[in-house]
Amino acid sequence: MNAPARHVVVLGGTGFVGRSLVRRLLDDGRRVTVLSRGPGPDPAAYRAKRALLTRDASLLEGDVHDVDFLRAVLDDADAVVNLVGILNEKGDSGEGFEQVFTELTRSLLTAMHDNHVRRLLQMSALNAGLGDSHYLQARGHAEREVRASRLNWTIFQPSVIAGPGDGLFCRFDRLLKRAPVLPVGRAEARFQPVWIGDVVEAFARAIDDPASVHQTYPLVGPEVLTLAGIIRLTARARGRHRLVLALPEALGKLQADVGELLPGKPISRDNWRSLQLDSISREDGLARLGIEATAVAERVEEILTAS
Ligand SMILES: NC(=O)c1ccc[n+]([C@@H]2O[C@H](COP(=O)([O-])OP(=O)(O)OC[C@H]3O[C@@H](n4cnc5c(N)ncnc54)[C@H](OP(=O)(O)O)[C@@H]3O)[C@@H](O)[C@H]2O)c1
Repeated sequence: MNAPARHVVVLGGTGFVGRSLVRRLLDDGRRVTVLSRGPGPDPAAYRAKRALLTRDASLLEGDVHDVDFLRAVLDDADAVVNLVGILNEKGDSGEGFEQVFTELTRSLLTAMHDNHVRRLLQMSALNAGLGDSHYLQARGHAEREVRASRLNWTIFQPSVIAGPGDGLFCRFDRLLKRAPVLPVGRAEARFQPVWIGDVVEAFARAIDDPASVHQTYPLVGPEVLTLAGIIRLTARARGRHRLVLALPEALGKLQADVGELLPGKPISRDNWRSLQLDSISREDGLARLGIEATAVAERVEEILTAS
């Protein structure tokens, strides 16, 4: 890594993390191209998502799973950021996760290799490769592909990411709006929510930093919060009086079995399997990058202003 990355290609850049990171990369004086699958079956949702992405980035729509498409668009890239991710797959076989994490990463590595693009920032997750959830297993397989490559890779493993428009506090806020009582499986599962600004800072610092090459950074916040605690903080920030009902193991599992069959899978069997592991880390990857982790619990009202 001799020169700073001037042109950065971001996969999954239209999402929650992507739109903040893209803005930051542009502010740092880089050219940014976001790759996206385009509208798909829900054009309205895509339009809404695209409206949140700064117009200063180039947006290229195409089949991000296709190695030829990737080869063509990585032509003059200096670095690639892979933020593609899903929390649920169709069915419960693990194939969907393998496709989105392992196979897409493999195609990306091939395209980068063929174009002599050497710098990759790969988003992963805490507990990748651990436990028996298909999501975490596929995450682990993707990490293994990246580590086996000859690229200058850096892997980031966040706990849940918190910030305006997130899928954590904002999601629970939407549920609590309607439900006076919220039954929750694995209510005692522990997380260390990490602030979106810190995640973006980590990527921004690492991209040109040779010391971050071949490193894996767990990204966690300073507070360990249970799932029930996160929901209670959400209710309190809105002044809502809600009952969080911690379900015993068997009922929590049953809730996931039922959720698996509902449209949009509000909770799935695989989510349940992931929840068996606490999403916490003793190692502080932010500190290793010189970033002091932001406390999230005191920022919940700010987070909810966007929802
Ligand atoms: N948010 C968190 O708490 C958290 C925690 C740990 C890890 N992560 C990981 O961090 C990354 C970014 O998270 P995020 O919260 O920004 O996610 P997000 O908002 O869901 O964005 C992910 C992006 O991935 C693309 N994508 C989704 N399904 C795809 C598919 N089947 N094939 C190809 N591309 C697909 C989408 O882009 P297009 O629709 O434009 O194609 C989407 O905008 C993900 O890998 C996520 O798993 C997030």
